[in-house]
Amino acid sequence: MVTRVQTVAFQGIEAVPVDVQVQIAPGLPKFLLVGLPDKAVKESSERVRAALVASGLGLPPKRITINLAPADLPKEGSHYDLPIALGLMAAIGAIPTDALDGYLVLGELGLDGRLAAVNGTLPAAIAAHSRDMGLICPAPSGPEAAWAGEDIDIVAAESLLALVNHLTGHQLAARPVAIRAPTNTLLPDLADIRGQQVARRALEVAAAGGHNMLMIGPPGAGKSMLATRLPSILPPLNPRELLDVSMIQSIAGELAGGALSDRRPFRAPHHSASMAALVGGGLKVRPGEVSMAHNGVLFLDELPEFSPQVLDGLRQPLESGETVIARANARISYPSRVQLIAAMNPCKCGMAGTPGHTCRRGAACAADYQGRVSGPFLDRIDIRIDVPAVSAADMIAPSAGAESSAQVALRVKNARERQRQRYLERGVVGAFTNAHASATIIEAVVNPDRESQALLLQAAERFSLSARAYHRVLKVARTLADLAGAEKVARAHIAEALSYRINMQAG
Ligand SMILES: Nc1ncnc2c1ncn2[C@@H]1O[C@H](COP(=O)(O)OP(=O)(O)OP(=O)(O)O)[C@@H](O)[C@H]1O
Ligand SMILES: [Mg+2]
Repeated sequence: MVTRVQTVAFQGIEAVPVDVQVQIAPGLPKFLLVGLPDKAVKESSERVRAALVASGLGLPPKRITINLAPADLPKEGSHYDLPIALGLMAAIGAIPTDALDGYLVLGELGLDGRLAAVNGTLPAAIAAHSRDMGLICPAPSGPEAAWAGEDIDIVAAESLLALVNHLTGHQLAARPVAIRAPTNTLLPDLADIRGQQVARRALEVAAAGGHNMLMIGPPGAGKSMLATRLPSILPPLNPRELLDVSMIQSIAGELAGGALSDRRPFRAPHHSASMAALVGGGLKVRPGEVSMAHNGVLFLDELPEFSPQVLDGLRQPLESGETVIARANARISYPSRVQLIAAMNPCKCGMAGTPGHTCRRGAACAADYQGRVSGPFLDRIDIRIDVPAVSAADMIAPSAGAESSAQVALRVKNARERQRQRYLERGVVGAFTNAHASATIIEAVVNPDRESQALLLQAAERFSLSARAYHRVLKVARTLADLAGAEKVARAHIAEALSYRINMQAG
């Protein structure tokens, strides 16, 4: 007879159903595991055997075959231990055969029978919920699973023995409760920044519309400081975004303690990052930084120091909001809709353009350094600003006058609310910021008047704007109008949006 236990395999953030089939047949003692298991899955036989012994159960000296179906889907990870162990227990009669009906099972076993947390519990729980099933998982993963819904049946046990007691009705385990990460830790505040009025304004515009931004300036001007203050002015994640972000964190094993946080992700990978680290993939496919920053900010500090290939690998995710990793036997995609913030010095010595400074290598210094970032990559950046060194007067003046993050966050929130309303009315799904609106939608909602059209035409001819650049100017202009609370986009908004863009074409 064959016993069956339902579990999942992960493809991107999708949990695909996997059937664990266990057969114990007469024959020479042998333990066979088939169905494209990777090394961690193969090793599960040792953990399962030890955990069963620790729980007072021995395996019969027979031929044991375990098949993970569908057989052509690669199985990765350590979460197959528990479904295999439970399948074996049902096969030898230690638990009733129907006890596992209607449950998805995942968990890693220790040699002593304890259950350890596994990656991907949240997407598995959401998959179980959508299929009207319950979930059996390790106790440390319980709080995470509880986010899938109030009505889903979750059994989160400490050990194999506790789980058997629950399934046989001897001692019921309590349903875990969903927990939220505390948000009272303070983020760095904009009030710390002296001067830099232009950069502060640009940061506010970028936050309001979700626009990509590049800051260029000499060392110590405050570029990294400004970028790290962006999370403090962004609105919190809405419930849908929260689940999406947390599912990716769950797959990557970065959901600390199973607590979900509604703060937007802020990822600042070091410039030595490889393609696998930044874009995703690698030996074991896992989300890269661009996916970890989904619905949040990807901050690339010292932009030209990144490998040019790696930066160009970001071009597709930046445009489509999704990273696709093609494998010989699978095609995996992760959501990666990010707001890109980049910072760089104008040249290798860092001071090109500063009054009174001449680079030792002359004009080539800046050209070589800036040339390391490709044109198509730069084309995806809506706002480019120069961040000059802070003047001594600004530095010495008391900082009391500077606006705090809370004040700016309020304006950003209002501007985002206007965008959300507008796109909801037009039936747009998913994208609620100007930066992510499609070209057709943005043309319809900006609808420039005659004066603005003339200005756009002039700029497009003079600076040979690409079609993408044209739409991105319209998007920034729409955000400027939203920040001002204006219904229509005026010539002044177009002019300011162009000023952020033309800067870049010239640079
Ligand atoms: N506008 C500013 N207001 C207050 N302090 C500042 C400002 N700019 C720089 N500083 C001070 O200088 C330090 C360095 O700033 P930051 O790291 O942001 O510079 P940067 O522009 O990123 O330089 P680099 O190009 O070398 O990375 C900050 O920690 C802060 O102490
Ligand atoms: Mg810096």
